Amino acid sequence: MAFVLPSKGILQSEALKKYICETSAYPGEHEQLKELREATAKKYGNLSEMAIPVDEGRFLSMLMKIMNPKRTLEVGVFTGYSLLSTALALPKESQITAIDIDREAYEVGLPYIQKAGLENKIKFIQADAISVLNEMLNNDMQPEFDFTFVDADKPNYKHYHEQLVKLVKIGGVIAYDNTLWFGLVAKEEDEVPEHLSTIRTVIMEFNKLISSDPRIEISQVSVGDGVTLCRRLY
Ligand SMILES: C[S@@+](CC[C@H](N)C(=O)[O-])C[C@H]1O[C@@H](n2cnc3c(N)ncnc32)[C@H](O)[C@@H]1O
Repeated sequence: MAFVLPSKGILQSEALKKYICETSAYPGEHEQLKELREATAKKYGNLSEMAIPVDEGRFLSMLMKIMNPKRTLEVGVFTGYSLLSTALALPKESQITAIDIDREAYEVGLPYIQKAGLENKIKFIQADAISVLNEMLNNDMQPEFDFTFVDADKPNYKHYHEQLVKLVKIGGVIAYDNTLWFGLVAKEEDEVPEHLSTIRTVIMEFNKLISSDPRIEISQVSVGDGVTLCRRLY
């Protein structure tokens, strides 16, 4: 069977998805985000479902405007929909470090990031994220990120968490994407498509792990495919 991603997000009602998108997500979507989204769909077809959906982009943008972070980090860029959503909302002097093993996908979105005048805000690192974060820790980097968005390599979420909890400032936020995994976390095992089952288990274990981590407080938000915000307490 071909690897097909279910349509975006945890909402099971297509009518409700359409309603949310048409009333509050598509109107006002920044022109370059729309262009990037369309270029991604053209190049990647069904795989463009890997990008965060438009309503989640609006949520991240709002969060950035409320938090006003100076230094942010993104793990898992793909063509850059989440990256551009945050970049557009950040204060002028802020800097984003963005890590992905795949530069080709980033280059699909790059013309729109450039057109929006935001390329200089972004330091793109093409590498395995675990190694980059390890290097930061080995170089004694002090906790310097105000916000990080993690959307890559789900089996390593627990490892990213151990690294990021040291790299994010006290009071800063780590956001993990896909923590409701197409809504499958709440389905019976036999209802889960085989190709989504392993990551479902990984996500369920991860959700349990962070819900009992005393170093953070969490809020699981049912936007997009589920985003868990973790605020570092100490
Ligand atoms: C779900 S996509 C990210 C979607 C993106 N946030 C967006 O809104 O378009 C996951 C990305 O993680 C990247 N990735 C997978 N494993 C990785 C790793 N070990 N280190 C860094 N990036 C990785 C993939 O290349 C892919 O581009």
